Amino acid sequence: MKTSRLSLLIAAIVVASLAAFTLSSVEAGNVIMAGAANPCAANPCSMQNPCAANPCAANPCAMKANPCSMKNPCAANPCASASTIPLRSKAITGKKELNRMARRLWKDTSLGTAGLSCASCHPKGQGLKKKPFPKYVKMPNDVVTMDQMINYCILNPMKAKAPLAWNSQEMTALAAYVAVMSKRGVGKMKNPCGLRKKNPRNKR
Ligand code: HEC
Repeated sequence: MKTSRLSLLIAAIVVASLAAFTLSSVEAGNVIMAGAANPCAANPCSMQNPCAANPCAANPCAMKANPCSMKNPCAANPCASASTIPLRSKAITGKKELNRMARRLWKDTSLGTAGLSCASCHPKGQGLKKKPFPKYVKMPNDVVTMDQMINYCILNPMKAKAPLAWNSQEMTALAAYVAVMSKRGVGKMKNPCGLRKKNPRNKR
């Protein structure tokens, strides 16, 4: 029975080693299965190198429409343009000329139809206040620029048929007078209502 004992031992060894082999295979199988869901499988290092798209590769200076090679925008200097629109056909070039015109116009009754000049109500600039324009003025009951106020007096107390043109020499000269005299602050004007008799329109 020695032989049968030995064969039994061999059989036992074979069975044991078979079992061990099967177990390790299962383990190995588990390892393989876990490997499928392995986050490291998608190796981030194997991804396309983000630096491959080198932003510097698109060198702006190598661009076709190189902004530096563009036409100099300053070349189109708007002030250098030959086709400028003049303010008016005849410019006032001297201060003396302006002052002379201003003093003459201040007393000019032909600016309106009421027989009045600016000087009738604003002798030597009376009534021209220091507060700068635009400002609220009671008579037009509005906020006005200096030019608008001048035209208001021309159209209303002086009863002109049309306002002075914004670019007229007359408007510039009268504005110069108002600017200078209002700085001086000569004081209050005479009551303009006393001048009503002089207004031919009031006789009607
Ligand atoms: C009939 C009188 C009369 C005449 C003429 C007249 N104005 Fe006036 N003007 C007035 C009165 C009144 C005021 C004040 C209005 C107010 O303060 O409500 C005034 C106000 C003004 C003001 C604003 C003064 C300020 O600083 O508040 C200006 C500028 C002015 N006149 C310019 C002129 C000019 C320029 C002329 C001539 C083209 C003229 N006026 C002719 C009566 C007149």
